[in-house]
Amino acid sequence: MNDHSQSVLVTGGAGFIGSNFVLQWIKNVHGPIVNLDLITYAGNPANLASIDGDSRHLLVQGDICHAELVAQLLRKHRPRAIVHFAAESHVDRSITDPGEFVRTNVQGTFTLLHAAREYWSGLSETSRQQFRFLHVSTDEVYGSLEAHDPPFSEVTPYAPNSPYAASKAASDHLARAYYHTWRLPVLTTNCSNNYGPFQFPEKLIPLMILNALEWKPLPVYGDGSNVRDWLFVEDHCSAIRSVLEHGRPGETYNIGGSSERRNLDVVTAICDLVDELRPDVLRGPRRQLITFVKDRPGHDYRYAIDASKIARDLGWQPSVPFEEGLRKTVSWYLGHGDWIEDIRTGAYMDWIRRNYTERLPQ
Ligand code: NAD
Ligand code: TYD
Repeated sequence: MNDHSQSVLVTGGAGFIGSNFVLQWIKNVHGPIVNLDLITYAGNPANLASIDGDSRHLLVQGDICHAELVAQLLRKHRPRAIVHFAAESHVDRSITDPGEFVRTNVQGTFTLLHAAREYWSGLSETSRQQFRFLHVSTDEVYGSLEAHDPPFSEVTPYAPNSPYAASKAASDHLARAYYHTWRLPVLTTNCSNNYGPFQFPEKLIPLMILNALEWKPLPVYGDGSNVRDWLFVEDHCSAIRSVLEHGRPGETYNIGGSSERRNLDVVTAICDLVDELRPDVLRGPRRQLITFVKDRPGHDYRYAIDASKIARDLGWQPSVPFEEGLRKTVSWYLGHGDWIEDIRTGAYMDWIRRNYTERLPQ
């Protein structure tokens, strides 16, 4: 007998990837979603404006570290799964303020796992077997690659280098422990860098698009040779849905776009796209805005994902090539001036001042 509902509890569903996931879910899966999000600086209900008033989506403003709130939500909505996105997610902020990362990413994930286990142990045998806890994580837990190293696979040893990566690694270990100790049906995904609509403009791609649009300097850390493996956010969301429906509990799945690019190449591609879509013949090409600035401390050189396991076991493949996804992304930011104005609060401008004033050549 099933004693759970068809709903899914999503955490962090007002952030960048979480909101894309919620929108895709409502469009393609149609089942109800309870969305627990603290609405930090990175969470934005406006990302979900297109499903305003849709009874299948309930946004609850609250903290994943609040054990009683999480337990109450589980008791009330009896979800068939938890998809856990909520996190502090920006490496530079983790260098400035690591404590918040330990609280949200480690303590928060622990609180959720603990509450999930209590709820799950009270379910009927059938519902216990069907229940899933999907923990969304990052490739940064594996550390940094040299130019000719093979890409990260699911058996690459953990070697996190930033406080962000270390806090995510700790949360992955807790998720693993809840499966191994109690057989809570946990699945973990480790994904490469995402880009696309609704990404907060503290991350490389949206920051560069906005600065290029406004003829501000484009601050490239170090010499711009660091490499990231980029994945369009909608492909990440479809991979998560595949893992949720067909993944094996206790397994981890690496997700990536097989699109390694040097930062400098990404930034020049953005300049060229903004030139094409918002030409300014008087001022000339935006590439002139590229400014090499002081490097990030402990800057990981290269990330790359071997996504053969998810392709082989679940048949998932990325569908959006990088150049197409980047064009879509630039066009999206150019067409969403209101969204940009809204997130440019005092808190955002404070961060830009804190992170870049000392880096930019004086
Ligand atoms: P984001 O920073 O855009 O969004 C995080 C969301 O979590 C926000 O809506 C925020 O309000 C919410 N949140 C923060 N603390 C909370 C708390 N204590 N309780 C409830 N909600 C809280 O992050 P993102 O880029 O969308 O990343 C989502 C997840 O995916 C994270 O777990 C991240 O580690 C992982 N991930 C991100 C990337 C990437 O490139 N962005 C790549 C791989 C994995
Ligand atoms: P980011 O988007 O912060 O993601 P992550 O650090 O999690 O990979 O940064 C992507 C790359 O871009 C990383 O190598 C750091 C670099 N970067 C810059 O060169 N300048 C910037 O202003 C930012 C935010 C990042």
